Amino acid sequence: MGNKKIEQSVDKRRTFAIISHPDAGKTTITEQLLLFGGIVREAGTVKAKKSGNFAKSDWMEIEKKRGISVTSSVMQFDYAGKRINILDTPGHQDFSEDTYRTLMAVDSAVMVIDAAKGIEPQTKKLFQICKMRGIPIFTFMNKLDRDSRDPMELISQLEDVLGIEGYPMNWPIGSGKILRGLYDRYNKRVELYRPEDENNPYLPLDEDGNLLEDNKLADDSVYQDAKESMDLITEAGNPFDEEKIKNGEQTPVFFGSALVNFGVKTFLDAYLNFAPKPGEHETENDVEVEPEDEQFTGFIFKIQANMNPKHRDRIAFVRVCSGMFERGMDVTLERNQKKLRLSNVTEFMANTRENVENAVAGDIIGLYDTGNFQIGDTIYSDKRDVKFTKLPQFTPELFMKVSAKNVMKQKSFHKGIQQLVQEGAVQLYTSYTTGDYILGAVGQLQFEVFQFRMQNEYNSEVVMEPMGSKTARWINPDQLDEKMSSSRNILVKDGHGDPLFLFENSFAERWFKEKYPDVELTSKL
Ligand code: G4P
Repeated sequence: MGNKKIEQSVDKRRTFAIISHPDAGKTTITEQLLLFGGIVREAGTVKAKKSGNFAKSDWMEIEKKRGISVTSSVMQFDYAGKRINILDTPGHQDFSEDTYRTLMAVDSAVMVIDAAKGIEPQTKKLFQICKMRGIPIFTFMNKLDRDSRDPMELISQLEDVLGIEGYPMNWPIGSGKILRGLYDRYNKRVELYRPEDENNPYLPLDEDGNLLEDNKLADDSVYQDAKESMDLITEAGNPFDEEKIKNGEQTPVFFGSALVNFGVKTFLDAYLNFAPKPGEHETENDVEVEPEDEQFTGFIFKIQANMNPKHRDRIAFVRVCSGMFERGMDVTLERNQKKLRLSNVTEFMANTRENVENAVAGDIIGLYDTGNFQIGDTIYSDKRDVKFTKLPQFTPELFMKVSAKNVMKQKSFHKGIQQLVQEGAVQLYTSYTTGDYILGAVGQLQFEVFQFRMQNEYNSEVVMEPMGSKTARWINPDQLDEKMSSSRNILVKDGHGDPLFLFENSFAERWFKEKYPDVELTSKL
């Protein structure tokens, strides 16, 4: 059942994440977007946090004052009549399964690529998750103020490496020292880089894409090259296809430079024309949940432990899927049918109190948690039982052997592991032969958080022995023979008791496949 007020609020929501490889410019572009949103921050605030120039407590103070997330996990602002939620996807040392899971809570993604480097590994991984979800992906080719790769090459790389069609919305007129501007076929204009008249950086184009006004740019060979490329693409490239964009099969591509704030607004304005409003989320129990429904529903996609030992609470991040959140509302936790009152809610995602109290589909709320929630949990108000589809498990790449330092403290060790694994902090495997515990993660940080929390919350000092990166491949139990295992492909069981091999490298995997051609090996995501 729809509700007009909720419907209007949902229509305005745009919730997305920025996916990129470290150093491509995600932080810089995020700052620009916040500036457009009128969230006045001193230049470089997000950056200062990243480089750890502030103690954590300073950060809380600073961010409280500005009304911005303690962790910058969710940034909300209004722009052009829309309420925008940017969900952070931590990279660098902070890369973890949470980074992947965050992508389960967004409606679209912005892929930032360093135009001098092209597609890099982390972008590829994050892209694959967006693709699996079939959400729209928009591309920003960054750092045009530096010498960039041939734009034609960058576009074909999207197709060759990621398997997604690229549709250039604009085209760079040079790069680095000879950057003149953008040939913007979408807006039918040329956007000048460093225009003489700062108030008017645009030169209009006619129907055929030629400069309307007599301008010396027309004689510039850099411009002519760009125009030629654009003409060629218009003739022979992929046609613009909104349906494909919606399904994540075509990505609109924009060029620019986040650092010098060139082409970012052009990108944002066009992006908002196509970015989808919050969509439906699938349920496991065949209940249809529409974002406009009166019933409040949401799911937990991330749990962040407080690293400060004085505050042992955690924050559970909820993606609202329908209804309107009201402080103090009663909800049911689907997993155990427990009734909870949501009074202790963080305001981390809002600039004003009002925002929290109006959270609707697309928004994120943060619940203080004392151990009630697990990743993937559904919460809902009212009577209708809703269970959102499970979040996928991601294939870990890094592994550690773990044991209790003090053999007398096995009990707290087991309790801690069990709870942290349930919470989704790390994945647990057991060796088939020795019964040893092996932890799996997608990022090093997960191990560090695990070790810290075992010590602080469960009083269990652990010994971690790195096994390095491995390729995890599940095997059909019917085909399993323990003799297949060796030091280069270690046989383990996952949390469900399913067998898998941890291959030392792709060479070991190939060798195995050649030796056992009939054995099926599968990866998760
Ligand atoms: P990330 O969050 O994706 O990791 O990237 P971040 O924004 O931190 O940018 C990484 C580096 O790239 C930074 O330089 C930043 O200034 C630079 N950068 C971002 N966008 C552009 C751009 O459009 N053009 C150019 N030329 N550089 C860009 P740094 O040297 O690591 O940091 P800083 O000391 O300069 O701040």
